[in-house]
Amino acid sequence: METISSPGAMAAWADRVRARGETICLVPTMGFFHAGHLALMRRAGEAADAVVVSLFVNPLQFGPTEDLARYPRALARDAELAAAAGAAVLFVPATEEVYPAGFATTVRVSGLTETLCGRSRPGHFDGVTTVVAKLFHMVKPHLAVFGEKDFQQLAVIRKMVADLNLDVQIISHPIVREEDGLAMSSRNTYLSREERGKALCLFRSLQLARERVAAGEKDAARLRNEIYQYIQSYGDVSVDYVALVDAETLADCDAITDRSLLALAVKIGRTRLIDNGLLAGSLF
Ligand code: PAJ
Repeated sequence: METISSPGAMAAWADRVRARGETICLVPTMGFFHAGHLALMRRAGEAADAVVVSLFVNPLQFGPTEDLARYPRALARDAELAAAAGAAVLFVPATEEVYPAGFATTVRVSGLTETLCGRSRPGHFDGVTTVVAKLFHMVKPHLAVFGEKDFQQLAVIRKMVADLNLDVQIISHPIVREEDGLAMSSRNTYLSREERGKALCLFRSLQLARERVAAGEKDAARLRNEIYQYIQSYGDVSVDYVALVDAETLADCDAITDRSLLALAVKIGRTRLIDNGLLAGSLF
């Protein structure tokens, strides 16, 4: 595996691969790899001839009070893991190369970014779409893989690709979980032992909601309220949102259908965790 840090060298590599008639699949990441990231890389390897993993902790998607400075980093370990998962290139651009002095352009998807995480993280999705659009231009992939863990991010990126006619096919990958159900996340490393226990409230909420729906619950407001109370019962956790939304439009639903997704964001101590799942489907 090659590690490339210059955007010019990255584009030249992509041009050579494309000239051979081979396909490229990009897996954008912010590093500190866990089994979820590695599953995305293996999925990318099934979909294309060459896999590029980008590792860039994107300052544009962090709010002023968020965890940019303490975001976990482990480049040498990440390089080994990406190579073992079959990546041909680890692309690690410097912040000054991605956002040179005077950088002034934002890619913004309206609507979908204004609910759920967009409400509590203003500007977050603008940072995501701007960097992903730039990565698409630097790496020139035919395909790109994103995880369903960040369900809203996936929807926003699909919308950007459609609206801007970007020639990149988006592949989604199901949520990869720890044995006890906690969705894997680089941020899980922030959790103390006690917080790690409480973090299970997210997955258990998904299970509880599925049980209720399987038993005939159709009223979204009642179910939402029950899940809210359930999470509060863990104590010392702060609910950012409990939402029942249409999996495609992300609009709130009144009645539960097989398109209804439970989306959760909960702060455990200082750590904000998210999770989601279809209530009548088989996403988890
Ligand atoms: P990051 O949080 O590093 O996640 C990189 C990719 O891994 C995303 O597509 C995310 O959805 C996926 N992922 C994370 N945890 C997962 C899990 N448990 N199961 C399945 N997939 C999982 O998401 C970002 O970085 C950034 O916003 C990025 C898209 C790179 C733009 O900066």
